[in-house]
Formats: sequence, C-alpha cells, structure tokens
Amino acid sequence: SQRTLVLLKPDAVRRGLTGEIISRIERKAGWQITALELRTLERATLEQHYGEHVGKPFYEPLVEFMSSGPVVALIVEGERVIEGVRALAGPTDPIAAAPGSIRGDYGVIVRENLIHASDSEESAEREVKIFFPGRV
Ligand code: GTP
Ligand code: MG
Repeated sequence: SQRTLVLLKPDAVRRGLTGEIISRIERKAGWQITALELRTLERATLEQHYGEHVGKPFYEPLVEFMSSGPVVALIVEGERVIEGVRALAGPTDPIAAAPGSIRGDYGVIVRENLIHASDSEESAEREVKIFFPGRV
C-alpha cells in the first residue's frame, strides 16, 4: 500500500470544512489516517514544500496564503491513496473540478483550493519528511 501527505489549506480551516473533508477521506474503505496536526507553516517550510514553483508568478501569493493561518497536515495510508486523494480533491482549478469533488463542491479561487495531496510516490516521501520528520 501507499502513503500520501495531505494539507487542509488555511481556507479550509477558516471556513470550518476540515471535518467534512477528513470525513470524505475517512470513509474510503481501507484508508487510515496515521498522523494529523494543526499548525501554522513557516515560509521556509513552504519553500521546501513548493520548491518546484519557486519563481513562478503565483508563488509569492501562494506562500502568503499558505502561511496566513493554520493548516491541518495529515498522513493517509492505504491502497492507491496517492491517486485516490487527488481524485477526491479534483483538479487544481475549482471551477474545472466536478461537483462531488472537494474542490468542485467548495472552491472558486485557484489559490484557495482547500486541499493539497502529494502527486507521486516520490513527492509523498519527500513531503512526509518535511511535515513529519520523525516518521520513517
Ligand atoms: P497542490 O496539491 O496544492 O500541490 O495543488 P496541485 O498539485 O493541484 O497544483 P500545483 O502543484 O500545480 O500548484 C500548487 C498550488 O499553487 C495550487 O494548489 C494552487 O493553490 C496554486 N496554483 C497553481 N497554479 C496556479 C495558477 O496558475 N494561479 C494561481 N493563482 N495559483 C496557482
Ligand atoms: Mg502539486
């Protein structure tokens, strides 16, 4: 099985949607939440996490937004969980995301799209180390 790093972004926390989003993840058969923490992210942490986007026009506003309030960071483990959580989330642009997906049901703005989930096994291992350095 796989593990993935999920962030419920500051908009999800501010709007009181963390329970709703976590419920959708929890209801999937065979998936387990194995770590969960509420915390406000430092710029340095975000620069590591979003290293691939440094220098892009949306990078600065993204870091500003992602450090604007607490996020909920989770590790989720289970069968095909990397692809699976991204399918629950929907595409990056919430208006392009189908109703029924997390972004499709609750999002409008590209930046404030509620949830991050690792996009590959390599990203998942890299991101788990950033947010939960104690985890093997
Ligand atoms: P994450 O799970 O957060 O990594 O989202 P993603 O994998 O769907 O998108 P990506 O990694 O390409 O971009 C990271 C985040 O930057 C997105 O979730 C958006 O919040 C933001 N972002 C990406 N592309 C754009 C863009 O073109 N404009 C703006 N304003 N924000 C963007
Ligand atoms: Mg991404």
